[in-house]
Amino acid sequence: SNPTLLILPGDGIGPEVMAEVQRVIDWFGARRGLKFDVSEDLVGGAAYDVHGVPLADATMARAQEVDAVLLGAVGGPKYDVLDFSVKPERGLLRLRKEMDLYANLRPAQCFDALADFSSLKKDVVAGLDIMIVRELTSGVYFGQPRGITTQADGSRVGINTQHYTTEEIRRVARSAFELAKRRNNKVCSMEKANVMESGILWREEVQWVHDNEYPEVELSHMYADNGAMQLVRWPKQFDVIVTDNLFGDILSDCAAMLTGSLGMLPSASLGAPMENGRPKAMYEPVHGSAPDIAGQGKANPIACILSFAMALRYSFDQGDEAMRLEKAIEKVLADGVRTADLMGPEGGTPVSTSGMGDAILAALDAS
Ligand code: NAI
Ligand code: MG
Repeated sequence: SNPTLLILPGDGIGPEVMAEVQRVIDWFGARRGLKFDVSEDLVGGAAYDVHGVPLADATMARAQEVDAVLLGAVGGPKYDVLDFSVKPERGLLRLRKEMDLYANLRPAQCFDALADFSSLKKDVVAGLDIMIVRELTSGVYFGQPRGITTQADGSRVGINTQHYTTEEIRRVARSAFELAKRRNNKVCSMEKANVMESGILWREEVQWVHDNEYPEVELSHMYADNGAMQLVRWPKQFDVIVTDNLFGDILSDCAAMLTGSLGMLPSASLGAPMENGRPKAMYEPVHGSAPDIAGQGKANPIACILSFAMALRYSFDQGDEAMRLEKAIEKVLADGVRTADLMGPEGGTPVSTSGMGDAILAALDAS
């Protein structure tokens, strides 16, 4: 039977960019014999409009069954007034939580044709291809105790707790080492073991997983503040970086912007291996629903298409086909095809969302 995909286009530009992904999926089915059983459902505001909740139970159940979920984006001004319990974002959070997607993969990859877009010097970013693995389900965003309390003297205290268990660290470390084996066999772990107990444990446990399970992968450790400096100074020294939820939030946003537009950035969130050996997985662009350009055919579909390329590589073991798709995108960019978000100050005529899709399909045909 074919591998299964659940597509959740969501809100705003989500459905517009996902339509282009659907064409790419169809291309791989027709031209490369890579067939998927695709089902589509609602998430976010689109689900709220129909079901009164941002993710229906039946959709959640389907997400647990499939080999991979592909999500567009959720949210929009229309839903800003809703109660927090039914906000579009809650649909996303429910998926991440119930699928227990603890490893968030954020590549920072620089297409040469866009190297001028970086705020850094061209030779610092040209050819850059690194991957940040952020722990996504624990750490200071979830640790107890937390809250704001009032002391006897009337002053208030805001409290969050950085909290990591052995197993929480080991499982995300394994995700990073597995990734490294498919890439350049090199992991750098970042924490602040100099000032944090959780940092000491993090370093020890990552080292333990290395020594006991992945001795063939090269492992180094770095304090996260130095890591931030090194990412901007000379990012090509890294391959896979693994770090906690808080540092990963900041470092992955920083690394992403080394390479240019939000419309180019894919992501993956992976959980534990399922019975068939594939990890629980959800793939989505980093960008949101972009209400300012929604419905105008201006959105760049590349972030979402690159998210599907990640699915090919990490869920379906189709690394060669993922590379075929990435090369097609590289070719299109090198040919100067640009959506509006990729236009430089020199200007030019942008293509539409589907125009970019057309160009990518043509490049695939020629591959
Ligand atoms: P955003 O990512 O939607 O947009 C930020 C800016 O980047 C906008 O000017 C937008 O036009 C542009 N942009 C984003 N993606 C683009 C693309 N593919 N092509 C061309 N331009 C693109 O972030 P913003 O404006 O902060 O949030 C808008 C809505 O999206 C909010 O409701 C927010 O909650 C939601 N959101 C959802 C996310 C998700 O579904 N994972 C993530 C971030 C925000
Ligand atoms: Mg962030």
